[in-house]
Amino acid sequence: MLVAIDGPAGAGKSTVARAVARALGFTYLDTGAMYRAVALASTRGLDEVEALDIQFDGDLVLLNGEDVSSIIRTPAISDQASVVANDPSVREALVAQQRSIVARGDFVAEGRDIATVVAPDAEVKVYLTAHPAERARRRAAELGLDPEDVAAELLSRDERDSSHGRTTLRAAPGAWELDTTGMSIDDVVDAIVARVGEAQSS
Ligand code: DC
Repeated sequence: MLVAIDGPAGAGKSTVARAVARALGFTYLDTGAMYRAVALASTRGLDEVEALDIQFDGDLVLLNGEDVSSIIRTPAISDQASVVANDPSVREALVAQQRSIVARGDFVAEGRDIATVVAPDAEVKVYLTAHPAERARRRAAELGLDPEDVAAELLSRDERDSSHGRTTLRAAPGAWELDTTGMSIDDVVDAIVARVGEAQSS
């Protein structure tokens, strides 16, 4: 079974998707980490996506065998990730890899385009949103940065992530849109787990 969780930056996708996967005993797939790994590689002059080996080992992200879990979370790599994600050849290569990963078992996959592009047939599709100010506040708390700086950065990433011709940053047909503004993480996780339970029993 596949649970697809999409939505803009700072909507709480990573925390929620990880917790939903744990609650269900599914494997968590962070597709944003794959774009981030490609971005890091590009800053090192490695531009050929097909030649990169991106693997997950529990919570670790490995790029050509190196643990890059922390370095891919820096603001510079966040920015570069949304640039490389605009390259159709990068998207094509990563979407193919993601399809083959989620075909291997029960997954909670999180990103921008899981339900629209990677797996439109996912059994459960959730589009997580939150008010922009709340998204900036959450991301700033996570990174220890100033909320106003983060708000400006999120806005420019949202614009780039939804720019011309991109199939990202919109809810897929049949997706359940969940506005998490003012909701606790636990409430969001419980709501999604309940939704999965309904899908499993129908
Ligand atoms: O979710 P994130 O912040 O880790 O994503 C990093 C960048 O990758 C972000 O700018 C959007 C892009 N991305 C994407 O285009 N498609 C995905 N499935 C996941 C992330």
